[in-house]
Amino acid sequence: MTRMEQTKFILDEEELPKYWYNIQADLPTPLDPPLNPATGEPVKPEDLLPVFPKSLIEQEISRERWIPIPEEVREVYRLWRPTPLYRARRLEKALKTPARIYYKWEGVSPPGSHKPNTAVAQAYFNMKEGVERLTTETGAGQWGSALAFATMLFGLKCTIYMVRASYEQKPYRRILMEIWGAECIPSPSPRTNSGRKVLEQDPNCPGSLGIAISEAIEDAVTHENTKYSLGSVLNHVLLHQTVVGLEAKKQLEMLDEYPDVVFGCVGGGSNFAGLVFPFIADKLTGKRPGLRAVSCEPKACPTLTKGVYTYDFGDTAGLTPLLKMYTLGHTFVPPPIHAGGLRYHGDAPLLCKLTKDGYIEAAAYYQNEVFEAARIFTMAEGFVIAPETAHAVKAVVDEAIRCRQTGEEKVILFNCSGHGHFDLQAYAEFLAGKLPNYEYPEEKIKEALEKIPKIVKK
Ligand SMILES: Cc1ncc(COP(=O)(O)O)c(C=O)c1O
Repeated sequence: MTRMEQTKFILDEEELPKYWYNIQADLPTPLDPPLNPATGEPVKPEDLLPVFPKSLIEQEISRERWIPIPEEVREVYRLWRPTPLYRARRLEKALKTPARIYYKWEGVSPPGSHKPNTAVAQAYFNMKEGVERLTTETGAGQWGSALAFATMLFGLKCTIYMVRASYEQKPYRRILMEIWGAECIPSPSPRTNSGRKVLEQDPNCPGSLGIAISEAIEDAVTHENTKYSLGSVLNHVLLHQTVVGLEAKKQLEMLDEYPDVVFGCVGGGSNFAGLVFPFIADKLTGKRPGLRAVSCEPKACPTLTKGVYTYDFGDTAGLTPLLKMYTLGHTFVPPPIHAGGLRYHGDAPLLCKLTKDGYIEAAAYYQNEVFEAARIFTMAEGFVIAPETAHAVKAVVDEAIRCRQTGEEKVILFNCSGHGHFDLQAYAEFLAGKLPNYEYPEEKIKEALEKIPKIVKK
């Protein structure tokens, strides 16, 4: 059998990358800095010290192209990395497409997604600086379980504020977090000022990532030896995820392949950036000007396709610095779609800038068409994927069908960011024809956009 005929492509453990790729080194113009909401001035690195450890703040602002992955982190990565790159031969056949479809399968990690790539790094750097407890938010529970897993490995305590809609839909993720020794609290909660304020206005609030972030930050800054950990959006999180794209590049090189188009779903942007940035580097440097990269989001929370590119808070209560990003307004509470991890009002500033500058495209999909694509994928490839991941699969299926119509033999690559073993209730509702198709509520977005901070409103 020749390499081209294989189904999956595996790297040796020793080929695990030794450096993360920092796209800030290759941006044509620098990223707009985070601003202090009170003064409108750029935030100083030391202002972030109550929230993050020094080493992660340094990574956040670094312009070094390559950042070393500590050996202790690589040792943990070896539990599941390098992850396999699959050629989706059966999906190609099912779609009768001449396209060659590849996917990076991140569902093999112990928590089942790409999230531990950064969770392990963050737990490690916090542990090195003497932090004893991490707080965080989680949507679908993928991030929370990843951080619970990572903090367990490095002997830290962990408190997780889980968006209530997901907490109720996905009890098994909570149990997973508890098995790994973390405490999991439905958000909004009566534990924090931010949570109490929301509950006073709406006792049945389904929660949002923005609210849960407020709670987790408040918990961190009001307790000793406690820091906050974010699962997406920030530069250092995207940096850690580039291990995915760096491996994929090596795996495709083995086959003498290079993608024409790369897809990933987007909640805050970390799995998308993780796969795409090492390839977009070639577009930025002019080596691959024709490369397309498409981010895939829900129509229920259409940040990149319908949001405004401006400075806004990262959380609902307004505790974070202002970040320049596409936003639906920090008070926007999206409908409770099953892709809980894609219900965030903003997106990573790095991803937003590259989108604004025309290097990355965006597409948005309805919940039912996304599950239908997941069903097509699962019936061909076998793996049951997370509803978040299915957004990328919907785009891949559409592109493969276009190739069938035009006869183009495109190389398609996507990030298969996680498995859906804890999302079976959502699949049951889909199979029973009971999933609603939410589109974003125009009026609610308009209301939320009005609340974007005025000092820098463009
Ligand atoms: C499996 C999976 N994919 C994607 C996402 C979206 O997050 P991000 O855009 O940061 O990759 C999540 C978030 O929870 C997730 O669980």
